Amino acid sequence: MQIPVGIITISDRASKGLYDDLGGPALKKAAEGYGWKVVAEELVADEKRDIQRAIREQINQDCQLILTTGGTGVALRDVTPEAVREIAARELPGFGEVMRLESMKITKNAILSRNLAAVVDKALVICLPGKPAGAVECLAFVVGAIPHCVEVLQEVPTSC
Ligand code: MTE
Repeated sequence: MQIPVGIITISDRASKGLYDDLGGPALKKAAEGYGWKVVAEELVADEKRDIQRAIREQINQDCQLILTTGGTGVALRDVTPEAVREIAARELPGFGEVMRLESMKITKNAILSRNLAAVVDKALVICLPGKPAGAVECLAFVVGAIPHCVEVLQEVPTSC
């Protein structure tokens, strides 16, 4: 299933050009590896309004799956979960649960992560850690459920 995907990197420092965005390109490579089509990419600061605007823009560009990287940690500037929850119709707690559980086998700091997935309009939004390797790993832990979830949200007839 060639899912139209949007990728949003959320980072104060990368958005100011203080360092290169490595998370966005890493997620793009992973998404293309799954056979999906990346149709939008954006880099925004850790600001709720910027995050919400970027998600809405990518939904308007017909992204059915939006992957964010960054802003899910414990720092006071980390506001990705709050930004997404404010505009979401519902949260899908299983995604965050599995990402944390599996990530704990890799690093004890995974307990600090507030990864989540939520439905905004008809799009599935998955919020991944800021560390590029962590974002790609977390996506891999939940990838099996993504095509079915996208089909259900797009109201494509499915067998289950
Ligand atoms: N999950 C995986 N799979 N691999 C990782 O390397 N890094 C962790 C964690 N989750 C990591 C991971 C680290 S170091 C932190 S601090 C938290 O995610 C929060 O990340 P964030 O603040 O970049 O969103």
